[in-house]
Amino acid sequence: MISQKLGNSLRYLNASNLFPIRNKRKVDKSLFSLNYPKYFHNTLISMDATNHENNVKSTENFPVSENELIGRLEIAKVSSNDDDAIELKESESVNSWEDNIAKSIAKSRKIRGGNYVQLATVDASGRPKCRTVVFRGFVKFPLETENANQVLGLKMITDSRSEKVSQINGQPLGEMVWWFSSSSEQYRLSGELILVDDLHGNQALLNERKSVWGNLSDPAREQFFWNTPGISYTGSSSVPSGGRDSEGKIIQPPPKSFLLMLLVPSEVKYLRLRDNYAQIDRLVDSEWIPQRINP
Ligand SMILES: Cc1cc2nc3c(=O)[nH]c(=O)nc-3n(C[C@H](O)[C@H](O)[C@H](O)COP(=O)(O)O)c2cc1C
Repeated sequence: MISQKLGNSLRYLNASNLFPIRNKRKVDKSLFSLNYPKYFHNTLISMDATNHENNVKSTENFPVSENELIGRLEIAKVSSNDDDAIELKESESVNSWEDNIAKSIAKSRKIRGGNYVQLATVDASGRPKCRTVVFRGFVKFPLETENANQVLGLKMITDSRSEKVSQINGQPLGEMVWWFSSSSEQYRLSGELILVDDLHGNQALLNERKSVWGNLSDPAREQFFWNTPGISYTGSSSVPSGGRDSEGKIIQPPPKSFLLMLLVPSEVKYLRLRDNYAQIDRLVDSEWIPQRINP
């Protein structure tokens, strides 16, 4: 386990032409009318298909599951773009998940909440626990010594007193789900979670923790001085304004409650609803092997 090798050591807020198309096939739009009842088809086309959160709320009146709805919504969206015919991709080159996600992130950069991800862990009884956290960028770091091979981690932050921390200490495997609403793509990244506190043995990660702390907004830093999270309400807490000194100027060193949290993925599952493309990337002997799969 990576965290064993390393030693164990928020609250937080703050296209269609991506790939070369080798084969195209024209599809008569009337095919979709056969599969989708008229009332449904028309309703979907009239929705704002760029905002799935709103669309999903609208599912209440429809006798279909959310997944079905989103799949159908994508078809409706495509068909509404072209009066006569639509083009579906039959094959395309398989890019690495890192290339794919870099493009997805670039496209969703301006979307509010585009960096909110869902992170799942398991508790001591094997029960899954899932919550929203903020993705804070990638970091490459050496696992053991400064000269060792570098691994890629997805950066998040959390409070050492939160429940996820004891869950991760008991079982460091986790999965992050990231939905990109503007490009209708889902990534499921699973791997090992690493918690970096002030006593962590890896200097590169200690530096990263300090740098993330320094880059937080003042309100985000203050959350790490709040009362213990998750227990019965104990009233408001007194916090150093902005996590700064008494004059409100110099940022204080991160408190013990502040943890850098990294997900080091070893498998990434990708699904793109626009053209029902799916891919899995697996880390085998330190090398990523991408493979197209059936959606
Ligand atoms: C939009 C949003 C962003 C959040 N970002 C974080 C975050 O970056 N880190 C974090 O630990 N919790 C974050 N939270 C709070 C978590 O979802 C969760 O409530 C908290 O971490 C306690 O979870 P736990 O009891 O499973 O440890 C966020 C919540 C929301 C709604």
